[in-house]
Amino acid sequence: MSSGKSTILVTGGAGYIGSHAVLALQQAGYEVIVLDNLSYGHPELIRDVLKVELIVGDTSDRALLDDLFASRQITAVMHFAAYIAVGESVVEPAKYYHNNVVGTLTLLEAMLAAGLKKFVFSSTCAIYGMPQEVPMTETHPRDPLSPYATSKDMVERILADFDGAYGLKSVAFRYFNASGANPDGLLGEDHNPETHLIPLALLTALGKRESLSIFGTDYDTPDGTAVRDYIHVSDLADAHVLGLQYLLDSGDSNVFNLGNGNGFSVREVIETARKVTNREIPVKESPRRAGDAPILVGSAEKARKILGWNPHYADLATIVNHAWQWHQKRHLNNE
Ligand SMILES: NC(=O)c1ccc[n+]([C@@H]2O[C@H](COP(=O)([O-])OP(=O)(O)OC[C@H]3O[C@@H](n4cnc5c(N)ncnc54)[C@H](O)[C@@H]3O)[C@@H](O)[C@H]2O)c1
Repeated sequence: MSSGKSTILVTGGAGYIGSHAVLALQQAGYEVIVLDNLSYGHPELIRDVLKVELIVGDTSDRALLDDLFASRQITAVMHFAAYIAVGESVVEPAKYYHNNVVGTLTLLEAMLAAGLKKFVFSSTCAIYGMPQEVPMTETHPRDPLSPYATSKDMVERILADFDGAYGLKSVAFRYFNASGANPDGLLGEDHNPETHLIPLALLTALGKRESLSIFGTDYDTPDGTAVRDYIHVSDLADAHVLGLQYLLDSGDSNVFNLGNGNGFSVREVIETARKVTNREIPVKESPRRAGDAPILVGSAEKARKILGWNPHYADLATIVNHAWQWHQKRHLNNE
């Protein structure tokens, strides 16, 4: 077992998934430093809830990284920092390749220069493209359909080459749909702009949005709407701690799906949100979006077997309920 006193650098720790990972790391006994440029992050969560050191800076700032690695005893890096909006990446690919690929490359080079060789990376199921099998396993062919997904695929390829050439050991986690919120209501999802279904449904229930769009009602699925695999963000965070411990225990580079193995349709999610909130959620039916698969469901058997990962919140109503607690607190307090 690794030392509980190791210091982990968490990039993007002021964001949704990163902030939950910071909490899980703290609970597992690690020291944490967050590096976040606050392009989308929430510094008040770091200051008031997590109470860890926040360095406001960019992963492409090599001088800052060199100073940081020279002045602090960092054991490993967890890298969440990225731009995440698939649609925007189609319109502004340069922004995505620069931040997600060049920023990551700069970070990896600074790590290697400092002799740091343990890296946990946020990848995505979007690198698989259209599913050829359900549930998808890690051996599914990779066919990213957007610059966002391609940027993640490129980093995975860089990581494989950096292991071969420089001995950098990494765990890449391919998340399905991160969702929910910390069960204590301390942290949650607050993207701006928001593009994810559950928060959009809850914002509509709160009256912050007029209606919720359903993109595609004629898919070959039981109710005609797209089916996705929703994985609770606290379960994702736990997997990151296990992935880190695996690397610190000399595990070899590896990739793991993180999903809950169950698919829920858009209509099922909306119905669950109506029940949990006991409010109206008006919907607008719209045509399919290009590049959206009918069904994306992942197998996380590998993470269960190799990392001993055991997700706690597979139930959709629980996921939506945790998110609802957070949204009520966040938005009703800010009115
Ligand atoms: N949310 C999902 O469902 C999902 C699914 C698959 C993969 N991912 C990946 O998980 C990671 C975290 O996603 P999230 O939903 O928490 O996003 P988020 O936007 O909430 O968090 C990302 C954080 O990174 C910061 N950041 C961005 N670029 C930076 C840079 N160059 N230097 C320093 N900080 C930077 C932002 O300010 C933000 O705080 C991303 O890498 C994303 O691609 C997310």
